[in-house]
Amino acid sequence: MADSRLRSEPLVLGIETSCDETGVGIVRGHTLLADAVASSVDEHARFGGVVPEVASRAHLEAMVPTIQRALKEAGVAASDLDGIAVTAGPGLAGALLVGVSAAKAYAYALGKPLYGVNHLASHICVDQLEHGPLPEPTMALLVSGGHSSLLLAPDITSDVRPLGATIDDAAGEAFDKIARVLNLGFPGGPVIDRIAREGDPNAIAFPRGLTGPRDPAYDFSFSGLKTAVARWIEAKRAAGEDVPIADVSASFQEAVVDVLTRKAVRACKDNGVDHLMIGGGVAANSRLRAMAERRCEDAGIILRVPRPKLCTDNGAMVAALGAEMVARDRSASSWDLSADSSLPVTDTHVPGTEPEDDHEPHGHAHAHGHAAHDHDHFHELSKDNLYS
Ligand code: KG4
Ligand code: ZN
Repeated sequence: MADSRLRSEPLVLGIETSCDETGVGIVRGHTLLADAVASSVDEHARFGGVVPEVASRAHLEAMVPTIQRALKEAGVAASDLDGIAVTAGPGLAGALLVGVSAAKAYAYALGKPLYGVNHLASHICVDQLEHGPLPEPTMALLVSGGHSSLLLAPDITSDVRPLGATIDDAAGEAFDKIARVLNLGFPGGPVIDRIAREGDPNAIAFPRGLTGPRDPAYDFSFSGLKTAVARWIEAKRAAGEDVPIADVSASFQEAVVDVLTRKAVRACKDNGVDHLMIGGGVAANSRLRAMAERRCEDAGIILRVPRPKLCTDNGAMVAALGAEMVARDRSASSWDLSADSSLPVTDTHVPGTEPEDDHEPHGHAHAHGHAAHDHDHFHELSKDNLYS
C-alpha cells in the first residue's frame, strides 16, 4: 500500500447511484479511463421528477452491465484495481443502497479496500480529472436538481465546510418546475437554456432571492422566484395574451444565474479564496458559465468548470475522490458501511468503525461528526413538491 505509484496514481473504480444515473467510472490518479453511465431519466419524464422506486429498480438492472462496460472501456481487469469507491450519501436511500451493496460485493470478492464517499465532495473532486490537482482551498458552487450549495474545501478528502445552501428549492429544481409551467418537458434546464438564447434576459425583472442587506450572504432561495414566474405566466394567460416563452426563460434564467454567481464570487472574496469551481447539472448552463467567467475575471478569481458530462452525476467523480482517498492514505470503510441519505457534507467519506480487517489499508481514523448537518437535501418526489 505504501509504494509511491499507488500513492500517486491509484487505479480506482467508482460507483454512483444517488439519484437517477447509474454511473461507473474508473480513474488512475487524476486520469479518467472510463465513464459509463446508464440513466433512467426517460422513465421519470412522464412524472415530471425522479420517482425513487423507479430509480432503484433501474439501478439494480443497470449495475452489473455498467460495471462491465466501464472495465472494458478502461481496458483493465477488476483484479488490477487498488480500491472501490461508492457514493454513501446524500441521495435517495433506496437508490444509494443498490450502489453500496454492489460496491461491497465487488470489493469483498476481489479483496480490495472499500471507500464510501460523499456525493457532494465527489462533485468537487471530479474537476481534478479535467484541470489537475485542486488548489487548496477551493471554493465550490454545486448546483443541480438535488442541491445548491456553497462549499469551502481546504482538503477535499477530509475538510469540506458548508458556507450556504438553498433554504427551499435547488437551482435545477427551479429550472424543472418553470419548464413544467411552460410545458417544455423534463428535465427543464437544457431546454430553458436553449430557448433563453432567443430571449431578452432583461425583459422581465424577476426577484433575486435572499439578496437583501440582512439576508444570509451565502444561502439561496428559489421558491419566491418560481412563484413570481408562475404568477406572471398565469396573468398573461388569464388576459388571453401569448406568453413570450423566450423572454420568460431568459429573464428567469438571468435571475437564477445572477444570484448564484454574485454569492459565489462574494464567498471567494470574503474568504480570501482565489479559485472557484462550479459543478452539478446546472453548471452545464451556458449563461451561468458566461456570467461566472466575466465576474470571476473582474474579481481576479480563477474559474474551473468541468465539461458538462463530468458536472452531471457520474461514476468518474466518485472514482476521483476514491483515488484521492487512497493517495492520501485515508482509512477505508468497513464492511458494515451503510447508505446515509442525509450524509452531512462535512463527512467527506465514511471511515471504518470496526477494527481493521484483511482488506483494509492502514490509515488513520477520521473524526466522524454528524453535528453540522447541511440543510441541503434531496427532494423526493411527492405531490407537495411536484405541484407546489
Ligand atoms: O447533477 P444532475 O444531473 O442530477 C442531480 O440533480 O443531482 O443535475 C440535473 C439538473 C436538472 O434539474 C436539470 O434541469 C439541470 O440539472 N440542468 C440544467 C442544464 N442542464 C441540466 N439547468 C440549467 N441549464 C442547463 N443547461
Ligand atoms: Zn449530484
